[in-house]
Amino acid sequence: MVERIATAVGTPNIALIKYWGKRDDRLILPMNSSVSMTLDEQLNTRTSVLFSEKLQADTVYINGTVQDINGTEVGERMVVLDILRGMAGDKRKALVVSNNQFPTGSGLASSASGLATLTYAAAGALGLELQPRELSMVARRGSGSACRSMMGGIVEWRKGDKPDGSDSYAEQIIKPGEWPELVDVMAILTESRKKVSSRAGMKQTVQTGILYRSRLDYVEGAVERAIDAMRKRDFQALGELIMRDSMNMHATMLDTWPPIMYLDDSSKEIIYKVQELNQSEGRIVGAYTFDAGSNANIIALEKDVGKITDMLEGLGSVKNILKLKMGNGPRRLGDGESLIDGTGLKPVA
Ligand code: DP6
Repeated sequence: MVERIATAVGTPNIALIKYWGKRDDRLILPMNSSVSMTLDEQLNTRTSVLFSEKLQADTVYINGTVQDINGTEVGERMVVLDILRGMAGDKRKALVVSNNQFPTGSGLASSASGLATLTYAAAGALGLELQPRELSMVARRGSGSACRSMMGGIVEWRKGDKPDGSDSYAEQIIKPGEWPELVDVMAILTESRKKVSSRAGMKQTVQTGILYRSRLDYVEGAVERAIDAMRKRDFQALGELIMRDSMNMHATMLDTWPPIMYLDDSSKEIIYKVQELNQSEGRIVGAYTFDAGSNANIIALEKDVGKITDMLEGLGSVKNILKLKMGNGPRRLGDGESLIDGTGLKPVA
């Protein structure tokens, strides 16, 4: 069998209407649909994969450190390798070398970026030619939000209804070049890891939340309204939906038992400052959104980025500000950019 090293680069995405809660933990089927913006390569994961008869076991390096994959969350996420091996009828073990190239000190780690890129590179290493939709369903099994990083621009993850998950996949809604003015201004507040993982946090919310049920009644309609606003390039309508959905998701977290709080005082300060800015301008200039952490993402139109960065620069808690555009989704890199030393079956020095 041909042995080939495939290398790919992929990026995170920021959810505009959030995924929070699974109806099937093993297949990673969500309770609700979600929609996100794939980000550009300023934040990226680069991954090389090699399947080889010479390997006795799957071996995974992340940021230079070999990972324990027995009974761990990283190991669980490597199910994408098994799924792709099954599709290719290939039993060889894999060497995975993956580096997150996020600005130093940003403290950002992204399972979405990691799993989308791994899926893309591993499919390439096995010689599988899969459509983006099929790839998104494989990536979904590693991390739900990763399915949306399999495509560029604005991407919807349709929740689907089938128990086998065959209708739960990502679909591109808007290509990056079609609305280049839409950007994400990321305010990095903390470098520390979150206390509760998204995986654990959403499970607890589904199990114990009272408000969570009312989120499910509203959120599917919010996805539709957000997509409609984006198709019309109506930032005013979109901005309100983004802010309200983020607050709604965080409200369901507060309401779980024991409570989960990802927002801290600095995040709240940003919420108030953005509200003030929007009020003083008489329109939505920026729309804040927070994932399972305290760092803020402020979605805005290019023309208003200056107003937002000026506001953020005045806050002592903001460590770093990044302006991210829409990205194109994962792509293959050439052999010269491989992270695997093929002859030695190890990461390049
Ligand atoms: C708050 O995709 O990280 O970022 O499927 O368990 O791997 P798993 O969870 P993950 O959850 C992301 C949650 C979120 C919202 C979102 O990205 O939609």
